[in-house]
Amino acid sequence: MREQLEALQVEALEKASAATSEKEIQEVRVAYLGKKGPITEVLRGMGKLSAEERPVIGALANEVRDVIKQALEAKEQALAKEAVAAKLTSETIDVTLPGRPVQNGTVHPLSAVVEEVEDIFLGLGFSIEEGPEIETDYYNFEAMNLPKDHPARDMQDSFYFSEELLLRTQTSPVQARSMEKHEGRGPVKVICPGKVFRRDDDDATHSHQFMQIEGLFVDQNVRMSDLKGVLESFAKQFFGEERKIRLRPSFFPFTEPSVEVDVSCGLCGGKGCRVCKHTGWIEILGSGMVHPRVLEMSGFDPHTYSGFAFGMGVERLAMLKYDIDDIRHFYTNDTRFLAQFKQV
Ligand code: DAH
Repeated sequence: MREQLEALQVEALEKASAATSEKEIQEVRVAYLGKKGPITEVLRGMGKLSAEERPVIGALANEVRDVIKQALEAKEQALAKEAVAAKLTSETIDVTLPGRPVQNGTVHPLSAVVEEVEDIFLGLGFSIEEGPEIETDYYNFEAMNLPKDHPARDMQDSFYFSEELLLRTQTSPVQARSMEKHEGRGPVKVICPGKVFRRDDDDATHSHQFMQIEGLFVDQNVRMSDLKGVLESFAKQFFGEERKIRLRPSFFPFTEPSVEVDVSCGLCGGKGCRVCKHTGWIEILGSGMVHPRVLEMSGFDPHTYSGFAFGMGVERLAMLKYDIDDIRHFYTNDTRFLAQFKQV
């Protein structure tokens, strides 16, 4: 029995060291140490042994079992280590390879223009105000000297929620809101960027939603020359030092007198070309001296205070500055268009 056990041990150790996989190890384990294996068999047959032999054989059988068990475990660990090593060599990564580039977004050209205009006016001592996009009839029209049934309302065919509530058609209502906050005491010196909405046919130059920047400067002794100086400074900073502006008489219900402001054409330098329709000038905004009734309605005494206001279209400014031929480019989120404004 002793020889039998010793032979089993030799045999099992040989098989364990020859095993090349987890599966083979398991097969050896089952064959030698399993319930139906030869060692179990020996232990079962112990009853037939003499009283002296029994403990000796028993101890040997246990020892053989432990040796085989340990050998199998050691081999198992060695195989696992080998597997990891093999995996590491087969899956080496080249850390010197260039990474995959991350696609960075860009600032939208309209946001870039708003920021640039804000910067210029902050430099001229203005601060930035915002107003609600859902506006009351009072602020959108009445406080801007457009009483109910005023024919000039027709030019801004509008989206109404009710008789009294609509999507603002212009940023001008922020003029009234800003003045009210100042409770009749100047100066009020603000620009107000934001979205506006008009029922419009969408085409290359019109959209039912677009952006404006309103400006308002109310104080004692604000004159038309201040209006001209501020807007000229803006035009030169925004479009280029060589540009000039001119004022043409116009009409807005909330200004008196009212002017349309043109900037000299950047393409032909004022000589006349396709872009400026051969006039040498391009219209950029509406402006004027704040109407006394507008001052009064928002709590300012028109005998003490005067002011100027202006309103410009952001899309239009962007189209002129970057030579964009269709307003719809701003809203379709075509990355081929947007990516061109990386440096802006
Ligand atoms: N609110 C006018 C519009 O949407 C633009 C405008 C013109 C604003 C003259 C002004 C202004 O403040 O003085 O057509």
